[in-house]
Amino acid sequence: MSQGLVTASYIVAAVLFIMSLAGLSKQESAKAGNWYGVAGMAIALLATIFNPEVTGLGWIIVAMAIGAAIGIRFALKVEMTEMPELIAILHSFVGLAAVFVGYNTYMDHGDLSGAMLNIHNTEIFLGVFIGAVTFTGSIVAFGKLRGLVSSKPLTLPHRHKLNLLAVVVSAFLLIWFVQVEGSTFPLLVMTLIALAFGWHLVASIGGADMPVVISMLNSYSGWAAAAAGFMLSNDLLIVTGALVGSSGAILSYIMCRAMNRSFISVIAGGFGSDGTAASSEEEEGEYTEVNAEDVAEMLKGSSSVIITPGYGMAVAQAQYPVAELVSKLRAAGVKVRFGIHPVAGRLPGHMNVLLAEAKVPYDVVLEMDEINDDFDDTDTVLVIGANDTVNPAASEDPASPIAGMPVLEVWKAQQVVVFKRSMNTGYAGVQNPLFFRENSVMLFGDAKDSVDNILRAL
Ligand code: TAP
Repeated sequence: MSQGLVTASYIVAAVLFIMSLAGLSKQESAKAGNWYGVAGMAIALLATIFNPEVTGLGWIIVAMAIGAAIGIRFALKVEMTEMPELIAILHSFVGLAAVFVGYNTYMDHGDLSGAMLNIHNTEIFLGVFIGAVTFTGSIVAFGKLRGLVSSKPLTLPHRHKLNLLAVVVSAFLLIWFVQVEGSTFPLLVMTLIALAFGWHLVASIGGADMPVVISMLNSYSGWAAAAAGFMLSNDLLIVTGALVGSSGAILSYIMCRAMNRSFISVIAGGFGSDGTAASSEEEEGEYTEVNAEDVAEMLKGSSSVIITPGYGMAVAQAQYPVAELVSKLRAAGVKVRFGIHPVAGRLPGHMNVLLAEAKVPYDVVLEMDEINDDFDDTDTVLVIGANDTVNPAASEDPASPIAGMPVLEVWKAQQVVVFKRSMNTGYAGVQNPLFFRENSVMLFGDAKDSVDNILRAL
């Protein structure tokens, strides 16, 4: 393949990646967006491995075959509820790859000298720094999402000063590294500092702020890829990395806005750690339990229903009977809509994906901002496996660890049915006063079984 053809392929791939991002921004075009991404990546891979500068094609193909086999196996095996962990671990690979590319480029920098060598060394240093932070940060995120590490924030004494120190010392090491024209010592010390920094940065972020961490690491992995692109002088990698980096940054901003947090304070960490969380884990009064037949009766007497799904719907895979319930109620003339919190579930857009999978019409699936004023005029709200995202303490209790986070104001409806298995807390570990309200009732059990039972009783 000629160099000209490689460049042309890279441009086509970059355009396809941009079209992919545009497609993924809307449910209706998300499938097409995915295909654009797949096509772009296929073109990028072919153009890269058949680039005239590439040698050892046999080894590359063997490595790709092994990687593809592992990837396909995991993709087929992974449950929807495990997607965030999978994404976190994939981000860690991008970070590790950037570190390896950095060290490889460092050992093999050709015959550069003067200003070009300084620029080259700066690229290596920054690439390794971003890669190492992404690597350990993603490993900790994986551990937190998998439950291997406590989701509570780690609050070391002077943690902000420690973070600042890590950045300042790394900046000095960069100057040293460039001035002595690539001495190994500052690069090695910085790598260790960056690994510890990434670990500490994510470990000190509390459970409820994990959505921002995921999108932040997504963004870091993009910048790590862009840095690798600079080191390898690969334009497509720079463009792709910048696209991932900036879309991850925009997503982090959207997540922060959804949770009413400032980006800087989330990164600085420690939310939900001021000790007030302990008291809120206790139960707060009496609750009323109902069965599926009772809920069926409530629904028969309702003319407007809002369903607010959460992580429990994903765990139970209840989206299919929920979709059936919706069509049954709609056929009976009931106005049914969904209220989707931006951080419901464990992934951005998690609920939308599940509902689309079960073929729920898009026009009844509304965002929190679009539906929050309508709860006052609603007869029945079905809270299916949601907890933190419908917690009134967020808006009413300034001492709550999730205070200030906008939530779906379900308690304003006439009656609320909460589907869950126990009185356990949600992801943020905060008790939910909604369960003890006079207009709330609890339907215990697996969400899928509960909805199936309601369908039978209707
Ligand atoms: P959560 O607050 O996590 O609550 C999930 C609820 O589902 C719990 O009440 C749980 O209670 C119930 N549940 C679990 N399995 C169930 C099953 N099989 N059947 C019925 N109920 C079941 O959910 P949420 O309201 O969606 O909030 C999401 C939380 O995750 C937020 O704190 C958010 O910050 C965090 N988070 C979000 C993301 C993104 S990007 N969306 C990423 C990481 C973290 P039982 O155990 O008693 O059944």
